[in-house]
Amino acid sequence: MKVLITGGAGFVGSHLAEAFVARGDEVTALDTGSQAKVRHLLGHPRFHLVVDSVMNAEILDGLAAKADLIYHLAGVVGVEHYVADPYHVLNVNVNGTQHVLRAAYKHGRRLVFSSTSEVYGRNPDVPWGEDADRVLGSTSIDRWCYSTSKAASEHFCLAYRRLGLPVTILRYFNVYGPRLDQLDVGRVITIFLGQLLRGEPLTVIGDGTQTRCFTYIDDAIRATIAAGLVREAEGQVLNIGTDQETSIRRLAELMIELGGGRSTVRLVPQERVYGDSYEDVPRRIPDVTRMHRTLGVLARTPLEEGLARTIAWFRGAKAAAGQSDGV
Ligand SMILES: NC(=O)c1ccc[n+]([C@@H]2O[C@H](COP(=O)([O-])OP(=O)(O)OC[C@H]3O[C@@H](n4cnc5c(N)ncnc54)[C@H](O)[C@@H]3O)[C@@H](O)[C@H]2O)c1
Repeated sequence: MKVLITGGAGFVGSHLAEAFVARGDEVTALDTGSQAKVRHLLGHPRFHLVVDSVMNAEILDGLAAKADLIYHLAGVVGVEHYVADPYHVLNVNVNGTQHVLRAAYKHGRRLVFSSTSEVYGRNPDVPWGEDADRVLGSTSIDRWCYSTSKAASEHFCLAYRRLGLPVTILRYFNVYGPRLDQLDVGRVITIFLGQLLRGEPLTVIGDGTQTRCFTYIDDAIRATIAAGLVREAEGQVLNIGTDQETSIRRLAELMIELGGGRSTVRLVPQERVYGDSYEDVPRRIPDVTRMHRTLGVLARTPLEEGLARTIAWFRGAKAAAGQSDGV
């Protein structure tokens, strides 16, 4: 099978590409970003990297024509982007998705779209089933632009579904593991990791009682592959994650325990980090019934185990990079 993965050089995309290649499939990754996460795949005869953008409709059309299955993972991700450049987030996430949908529809290709738990906003009624309400703040709070961009894209996907496109929408819940962002940037785990590996205090933003459900990459990949292959997944919206809830403070403490260093936890007021264009989501928990029923997959990696593997990977990569910041 020929699989096209937009964003295929990113964190989830690189693991997905690796898994499809290991299955014997042929993968083309389309990505504008760094090649660091797919460097190990670059010489493989069944892996191809196209360095271009989902904003390039012509390229997409050609790649979709040759694919049997398309995963659309390309997107602008990370709180630093939501608050610094909301235009870029909205433009790539909404307009890029439209280009992918148009190409998939024209060539009659099955499409899996990567959405996010952020679409539920701060709906207090957890756990969230897929039909739960979206509860968002004002448009003057930039952080909601990402949630909105993904929700608008979901609407486009569902509109194409009505036209007959076999599309599946996946809402990922805090996926982590080896090759997650660079140390010190991106998501909470890599920010903590950078601090942990230098023996500095782990800076918890706010009071640390906010919770997330951290999903290990291998579990997310099993579900993601099934979403592209299982017929019952066509036309569905699915939460992808674990329902094991962890506070950010507990995450920091656990990483310190597992990392074996001298780090401590330091609480930092949210406004000092993000100014007033951010508001946090207190609890974020998926109902995973539909994922289990439709895909036959449950996330089974305990947080302790996934974190230990992630810390070990980043420690090794940092050592290999000779203490440079290139990890
Ligand atoms: N990892 C998670 O926990 C999580 C949670 C919710 C949703 N998601 C979604 O899953 C997808 C993959 O996330 P990730 O964690 O791998 O993030 P990531 O940032 O590692 O991957 C996104 C990739 O998209 C690429 N990209 C950005 N703009 C592009 C463009 N114009 N054209 C082509 N490629 C472009 C980036 O270079 C990057 O490699 C994203 O769409 C994200 O919104 C991930």
